[in-house]
Amino acid sequence: MSRLIVVSNRVAPTQEGRPAAGGLAIGVLDALKETGGVWFGWSGEIVSEAAPPVIDQQDSVTYATVGLTKRDYDQYYRGFSNATLWPAFHYRNDLARFDRQEYAGYLRVNVTLAKQLKALLEPDDIVWVHDYHLLPFARCLRDIGVTNPIGFFLHIPFPVPEMLRTVPPHEELVKCMCSYDVVGFQTEADRQSFVDYIERGGHGSTSDDGIVHAYDRFLKVAAYPIGIYPDSIAKAAAQFADRKVVKSLRDSMRDRKLIMSVDRLDYSKGLVERFQAFERLLQNAPGWHGRVSLVQIAPPTRSDVQTYQRIRQNLEGEAGRINGRFAQLDWTPIQYLNRKYERNVLMALFRLSQVGYVTPLRDGMNLVAKEYVASQDPEDPGVLVLSQFAGAAEQLPGALVVNPFDLSQMAEALERALSMPLAERQARHADMMGPLRENNLSVWRDTFLGDLRRVANASSVTAKAVKLADATAGR
Ligand code: G6P
Repeated sequence: MSRLIVVSNRVAPTQEGRPAAGGLAIGVLDALKETGGVWFGWSGEIVSEAAPPVIDQQDSVTYATVGLTKRDYDQYYRGFSNATLWPAFHYRNDLARFDRQEYAGYLRVNVTLAKQLKALLEPDDIVWVHDYHLLPFARCLRDIGVTNPIGFFLHIPFPVPEMLRTVPPHEELVKCMCSYDVVGFQTEADRQSFVDYIERGGHGSTSDDGIVHAYDRFLKVAAYPIGIYPDSIAKAAAQFADRKVVKSLRDSMRDRKLIMSVDRLDYSKGLVERFQAFERLLQNAPGWHGRVSLVQIAPPTRSDVQTYQRIRQNLEGEAGRINGRFAQLDWTPIQYLNRKYERNVLMALFRLSQVGYVTPLRDGMNLVAKEYVASQDPEDPGVLVLSQFAGAAEQLPGALVVNPFDLSQMAEALERALSMPLAERQARHADMMGPLRENNLSVWRDTFLGDLRRVANASSVTAKAVKLADATAGR
């Protein structure tokens, strides 16, 4: 069996029990541990000059990590990745800026990383590249003669063509994406946006089986929604119930209900709107005063990107204002914590809470929504209030789905969740656990890698090309 080489900007914390940074780190680490292989990417360190990868073997996974120089970090990570692509792909082009030098730095780092990876590659390896930092990575590998199968999975949303076109080098980026053999998205809507860009822009065509023909390349394009392992999460949630921090939260709740949110501190997560909707609940329903608290855990990330400093200030202001307005001597309505917790502890905290409040303005998938559901006690489950703009909304039919721009609707959903009868909570929970089990994390990985192995097989690509040509001729 060929080795799996995973490439992503952020390589997951390698020590067990350390908090994970985001959906990518969680999903990829779990998947890679099972197959074994190499994980290549940035070490998270800033270095004075580029050096070959540092290799660290841990059980079945080899970590190969490189540092970034300050200039590379500023232009590639802080600049084009997180100040241009991230906001635009999350429909916040008002927060996006474009700087040609940063874009040049983004391309340069992709070229450098590709060269470093090439030195580690063996002929049979299959390469799986992740996320928006590395859109041009396959192009860079192809340019230096790498012929191994290369797949790409985008963890964040892929915007509709009109939004994508606000990113000046949009066409070059999409063309680069067509150098992959398989391109995967979180949702059908994301896949459709990519196909729309190709077809409506006159850059290529798509066959019924998801093969795109564009820029002289054939590639498989499909949605592969990332999953979790619901049963092991349920187990961890129950097992970690006696951790000190979990116990102390339970003791402090007394007969109070708990609404729980966990997000990286990011403007795409809709945190300000979420606080304001909770405020509206307290304003409209004084009966809940003293009887419900919102716990928001939001570890800061990317704090050297200006837009992230602003969201932090805004949010602190909002939490303070709302608490000042409603707090009583023995009750703080919003507990806002800028720190990380171990993942298993979070699962136990989810299990304690009556409402999971996950309302991003835009999100690729949002694994927290899935983890909240999986953490619940099936006999007495909590209710998920979920944004329609999280990819997870396509797959969690038992959630109360809300529009995060409609504060009144969110406040009503919170009240409905807090008052929901047990039988309805159980039914909704069961409706979600089935699909979570059926589309678990191994299904995500195996479906993607199965397609990559198939499409990368030269004869099958040729066969698909012929089929596509036949279909076009017959029209
Ligand atoms: C999201 C992105 C990941 C990223 C993570 C944490 O989940 O999809 O690619 O690693 O956020 O962000 P950071 O900038 O700290 O890596």
